[in-house]
Amino acid sequence: MDKLRIAGGRFLKGRVAVAGAKNAALPALAATLLTDDAVELTNLPRVRDVRTMLRVLEQLGATVNETGAGAATVRVGRLQSFEAPYDLVKTMRASVLVLGPLVARHGRARVSLPGGCAIGERPINLHIDGLQKMGADITIEHGYVEAKAKRLRGASITFPFKTVTGTENLMMAATLAEGTTRLGHCACEPEIVDLAELLVSMGAVIHGAGTEDIVIEGGQPLRGARHRVIPDRIEAGTYLCAGALIGDGIEVVGARADHLEAALTQLAACGVVIERTGEVLRVLRPERLVARDLRTSPHPGFPTDMQAQYMALMTQASGTALIAETIFERRFMHVGELQRMGANIRIDGRSAAVTGPTRLTGAQVMATDLRASACLVLAGLAADGVTVVDRAYHLDRGYESMETKLGALGASIERIR
Ligand code: EPU
Repeated sequence: MDKLRIAGGRFLKGRVAVAGAKNAALPALAATLLTDDAVELTNLPRVRDVRTMLRVLEQLGATVNETGAGAATVRVGRLQSFEAPYDLVKTMRASVLVLGPLVARHGRARVSLPGGCAIGERPINLHIDGLQKMGADITIEHGYVEAKAKRLRGASITFPFKTVTGTENLMMAATLAEGTTRLGHCACEPEIVDLAELLVSMGAVIHGAGTEDIVIEGGQPLRGARHRVIPDRIEAGTYLCAGALIGDGIEVVGARADHLEAALTQLAACGVVIERTGEVLRVLRPERLVARDLRTSPHPGFPTDMQAQYMALMTQASGTALIAETIFERRFMHVGELQRMGANIRIDGRSAAVTGPTRLTGAQVMATDLRASACLVLAGLAADGVTVVDRAYHLDRGYESMETKLGALGASIERIR
């Protein structure tokens, strides 16, 4: 298994370009199932999860043409199968995004239940409840969700709490359902707006994406489209944290500051100065980083996907930061590893108190999920000595060539086996 070896303590300097957003690319790829025309997507990040989604689509019968770096044309004519099998779903939960489109256009779907993962239980009951309200007949057997519907019908569905892929799945299904669908208490992430933009360019009628109430006028067949995926706000935020931690004025290029407001505000409160010039965010490491409390919450709040990276930063801040994780019940797996590197962190339920600054020392550490891995890489960059982050495949799921990008900024980082 690949590992990343980092010799810490080198200041980072230069420019780093942000790739397309993994969490926007995955629903966009699933949306190709809604039409038999070709859909061309650009700015797809070259990460493992995108490859997995392409494999899921190919297995269903899609023709995928990779037309250049980060560009692919996907065409789904007649399906070969209606199934997203366990072997693929277990490696990537977001495979469940094919459920809504498959049943909406093809009348049938069989998708493995993803089961729990490293960061929490993560059920998909809200996806299932919503599709049932739209008339799908759903059974759960042998670890699979099987959904059938001759034709979905528009429905009024209010989510009891916000779910990103749940909102995306139902929004996609509703575009082909007969009549109007009203979705209430929707997630408002920029990735949902991006998906809605793609669907609208395919001919869908959608109002309110990015707010809690989305209305979809469904029923018309969708057509092909071209779409450029938005930049990855979490990747951008990760490099902003690197710049705040051990940067010498690094510039993050190609991010959308309007997608990063909560992170930018939080970093500013810690004393980090970020200058914005067009598409460039220049981050200045402060003389003294100040500890600030944090609570993750759905967009426009501070993203859970940035919590671990922020925690790495807080190990070097003066004072105690209380970090509350409100989205996932087990998203503190990085804490034990940070402690082994010398961090002073106390967990109390779903909060962690990080007291700093502490000297971090390089160690062998184990990545447990994507964002925990990014946190450990950041800690390794700031630590004295050598850190080896085991199970780098977690990082490869969502960060495009992270070691190359950090290496170009001057970090001493290499992939070893
Ligand atoms: N939930 C349920 N039932 C459901 C759906 C969700 O109980 O049917 C719960 C989840 O267990 C969780 C909360 O609702 O406690 C919110 O989960 P959500 O459904 O919003 O998460 P998701 O859609 O599975 C997406 C991202 C995650 C990101 C979360 C939260 C994609 C492909 N994944 O997951 O990204 O953490 O939203 O913002 O968009 C990552 O990129 O590292 C990552 C984990």
